[in-house]
Amino acid sequence: MSIILAIESSCDETSVAICNNGKITANVIANQTIHQNYGGVIPELASRVHQQNIIPVVQQALIDGKVNKNDLNAIAFTQGPGLLGSLLVGVSFAKSFAMAMSLPLISVNHMHAHILAHFIDDPQPSFPFLCLTVSGGHTQIVVVRSYSNMEVVGETLDDAAGEAFDKTAKLLNLPYPGGPLIDQHAKMGNPLAFKFSEPQIKSLDYSFSGFKTSILYFIRNKEKQNENFIVENLSDICASVQYSIVNILLGKVKKAAKDYKIDQIAIAGGVSANSGLRTGLKNLADEQNWNVFMPAFEYCTDNAAMIAIAGHYKYINNDFVGQNVAPLSRMEF
Ligand code: KG4
Ligand code: ZN
Repeated sequence: MSIILAIESSCDETSVAICNNGKITANVIANQTIHQNYGGVIPELASRVHQQNIIPVVQQALIDGKVNKNDLNAIAFTQGPGLLGSLLVGVSFAKSFAMAMSLPLISVNHMHAHILAHFIDDPQPSFPFLCLTVSGGHTQIVVVRSYSNMEVVGETLDDAAGEAFDKTAKLLNLPYPGGPLIDQHAKMGNPLAFKFSEPQIKSLDYSFSGFKTSILYFIRNKEKQNENFIVENLSDICASVQYSIVNILLGKVKKAAKDYKIDQIAIAGGVSANSGLRTGLKNLADEQNWNVFMPAFEYCTDNAAMIAIAGHYKYINNDFVGQNVAPLSRMEF
């Protein structure tokens, strides 16, 4: 029996969840809307808002999970990777709370947790499986051999897929975070209306910086001919950009599945909420005879439920850390 309280504060969501014996019974997420005014996450503001939100969010999670703080068995928290100031709020709170309540501490790698979100609900993949982990900060192909054995076999050499979405959205004058808005507009557009140059990398690695520059030049050129180009073609631009990003992402997944002879394929991270990626993966799975796993929308973007389930598996293995633990802004697998 274990009741774990988990804290996620790596970027701009303050989230606290309760995991009761492997079942998520609370998952409270406080979003920070302040960053919309700046077109991206401002680290100094993010840590300040985490500081304001953390206690009310913990209290709400205890209410939602119908548990008393005296019933908790462990405190799990995101150690990294993420923004240092944001992580410090969650880590410091977790350490103080654990000390006050004499509870063990469990440190969780945020990227592992995105993958372990697949073990919150059914259906669950069996090991080994491949996971395309695509977020605002990372783009990785991971061979997942167990709850703790994960090997990154491909990753971005520069920008993450989420950044490619968000930076394109910025060029199109859409507010931050632009990924979900591109997704919405893309639904009304023609994905083959415009073509962008896609990277030609032979390994399983990705690169999105050249792709991003090609979109910038494309828009600049079109605007020289027609100053209303963006407004008049927004849906087609969004659909075409999304189509290219999905194509780039799935091309490498197909190669990885072949290289590693794995036919269980999962996606995780904020960009796994993208409808084009989800449909594209389903279609490819039909063609390749894969079993695919996509997290429920609420577990795609940052949330503490995934930290709680990761904490649950570490609790079973008595995998705890001491009070000298500190956040890691860049954590290697
Ligand atoms: O995993 P996440 O919540 O935070 C990080 O760990 O980075 O991912 C956030 C990223 C952002 O870049 C956001 O634009 C993107 O996920 N995102 C999407 C969608 N929903 C979130 N990108 C494309 N389509 C979506 N529907
Ligand atoms: Zn994330």
